[in-house]
Amino acid sequence: MSNILLSSRKNTLDNNGVLEQNKKFWDNTADKWFGVTALPELGCLIPSEEDLHLFGDVSGKKVLEIGCGSGHSLKYLGDHNASELWGLDMSTQQIENATRYLKDCGYEAHLFNSPMEVNPGLPMGYFDIVYSIYAIGWTTDLQKTFNLIASYLEKGGTFIFSWDHPVMRCMEIEEDNLVVKSSYYDENLFTFEKFGFDISLSKRKISTYINALSKAGFFIEEMIEETDKQTLESESKVEQKYHSAFNAKMFPLSFVFKARKL
Ligand SMILES: C[S@@+](CC[C@H](N)C(=O)[O-])C[C@H]1O[C@@H](n2cnc3c(N)ncnc32)[C@H](O)[C@@H]1O
Repeated sequence: MSNILLSSRKNTLDNNGVLEQNKKFWDNTADKWFGVTALPELGCLIPSEEDLHLFGDVSGKKVLEIGCGSGHSLKYLGDHNASELWGLDMSTQQIENATRYLKDCGYEAHLFNSPMEVNPGLPMGYFDIVYSIYAIGWTTDLQKTFNLIASYLEKGGTFIFSWDHPVMRCMEIEEDNLVVKSSYYDENLFTFEKFGFDISLSKRKISTYINALSKAGFFIEEMIEETDKQTLESESKVEQKYHSAFNAKMFPLSFVFKARKL
């Protein structure tokens, strides 16, 4: 991803407008994201699930992915013997791609074409694990989304999610220096263009995620804020983009939370 702060502007849409706009983006670009940001990867230049084992032994577990994209993370958990694969995604094209991909891999999954801000008919108190790899941050209503996720989990169930670290949204490269360009405290919804489509995204503080998890009835077991060893040990040059090794050596590009429903 290029340095989108340079080209971003203030969002002018309401939440429904944002969802409609973002759905258009994901429907039209789904094929470009086939298999991208999927387990065992948890985020950008951070340790993977193979290193961290956050999911533990998933055999016999009922799992639900929020923002399941092309279905590659569900397939990974199926390969590790999860007993039921469920997914939700607001993009019709992503759901079509995931349905085809999982079927080709021999898996039967329950997939819902819906925004995460509503329950499209998912069972309550049912899942052992609800997770989201690089999708939660797209929500237009974080608290509502976390409340819904808590309602899908059985008591003691696990919620794991990863997303862009907000610090990276404050930084830019200027004349080969990494500089703080915007306030960490500024929680804005900004719009930018990618692949010819407008798309809107919220920047939220880490404490906003923590407080929303707590309010939804979660106990935080672990938070990952790390760059992977290989990147830390690599030679790196300044690059005019967020997801560079140079940046990742200075601060985490992604974070992961593992929480338990109380
Ligand atoms: C980076 S992809 C996730 C890929 C996925 N982890 C995989 O294994 O393929 C993000 C996904 O979030 C979905 N998404 C974005 N906003 C959403 C929303 N409000 N509700 C549900 N899904 C959303 C997009 O359609 C996209 O498929």
